[in-house]
Amino acid sequence: MNYKNVFSANSVNYTLAAKYLRQGKLVSFPTETVYGLGADACNGEAVATIFATKNRPNFNPLIVHVPDLETAENYVFLDETSRRLAEKFWPGPFTLVLPRKEDCPLSPLVSAGLDTVAIRVPRHHMARELLQTFGGAIAAPSANKSGRVSPTTAEHVAREFTPEEVPLILDGGPCEEGLESTIVQVSGQEVLLLRPGTVTPREIELVAGLPVRLVKNADNPVAPGQLKSHYAPRARLRLNATHAEPGEALLAFGRAVPKDGVITRNLSPNGSLTEAAASLFSLMRELDELGIARIAVMPIPMQGLGLAINDRLERAAAPRPDEEEA
Ligand code: TXA
Ligand code: MG
Repeated sequence: MNYKNVFSANSVNYTLAAKYLRQGKLVSFPTETVYGLGADACNGEAVATIFATKNRPNFNPLIVHVPDLETAENYVFLDETSRRLAEKFWPGPFTLVLPRKEDCPLSPLVSAGLDTVAIRVPRHHMARELLQTFGGAIAAPSANKSGRVSPTTAEHVAREFTPEEVPLILDGGPCEEGLESTIVQVSGQEVLLLRPGTVTPREIELVAGLPVRLVKNADNPVAPGQLKSHYAPRARLRLNATHAEPGEALLAFGRAVPKDGVITRNLSPNGSLTEAAASLFSLMRELDELGIARIAVMPIPMQGLGLAINDRLERAAAPRPDEEEA
C-alpha cells in the first residue's frame, strides 16, 4: 500500500495521532467494527470538521469513544441497568445512549444538541492505545464519505480521503466484525434497540433483565416530523432575515450585523462555517434559556457545512407536529 497518510502501529505514530487530535485535526483508526473518522470530542470545530469532511448534508449525533467506563462517567450518567450492560459488553461493539452530565465538556455538536450522548469503549487494541495516548474522548463515525459503505481496511479510508483531509490513518488491517456497533438506550422498563449489531437482543435481555424493543429507523431521522432524536428549540425561527423585527432575537452570521440593541448571538463573527456549526446548538439553547419566543436567523451560505446548518435550521423552522393541522 502506498498512501502517504497510512501509518503503522508504533508508539511514535500513536503520539503523532494524539497530537493531531489535540490540534483539532482528524485521525482515522481501526475498531473491531469499522474504521472510524475521529476528532477530539470536546473540540466543537474539530467535530464540525468531521461533518464537512464526510460531506454530510445534516448533523447526526456521533458516537463518542472512551478508553474505559470510568472515563465515560466523566461525561454521562449511568443508571443501574446501563451500568450492568456496560460492565458486560465493554470493551466491545456496543454503544449506550446516556444522559449528558450537567457539566459535560463534550461539544454539543456530538449530540446534535440532544441531552444524551452515544458512547462506547472499543475493544480493538489500536483504538484503545490511541485513546490511552490521547487521554480524552474521540468522536468518530465510520470513515467514509456520506452515502458510501463503511470502511473495513485502512486502504478503504485512504482511497476516500486525501492527506489534507485526514493526515493520519492508523493501519490495523481488516476489521474483525465489519458491522457497526449495536446501539441501545435504557428507557423505563425496557431497552430500546436503536441500531442492531453483533451484540444480540437476547444477550442484552439476559443482562438487563428487561425486554428489548427494536426502534425502526432510529438512526436515520429523515423528515422534519421525526424531530424526536434532535434538539428542537422552543423558539420559532424566521430564516434568511436581514434584521430582527420587534420581539425577535437575532441569530447572526458574519461581520455585517445590524447594531440595534436587540438580543444578538453570532454563529461566527468571522463568517466561518466550521465555527458556526460548532456553536449552532449551544446558541439555540442559550436563546431558549433566555426565554426568547422568536429568533430571526441571518442567511448562511449554502456551501460545505452550510448545507447541514441550513438543514438543521429548516427543521427547526418547520411547523411543529402539534401545529401541523392548523
Ligand atoms: O461501530 C461503530 O459504532 C462505529 C465505529 C467507528 O465505532 N461508529 C459509528 O458511529 O457507527 P456513527 O457516528 O456513524 O453512529 C452514529 C449513530 C447515529 O446514526 C445515531 O443514530 C446514533 O448513533 N446516535 C448517536 N448519538 C445518539 C443519541 N444521542 N441518541 C440516539 N442515537 C444516537
Ligand atoms: Mg456510517
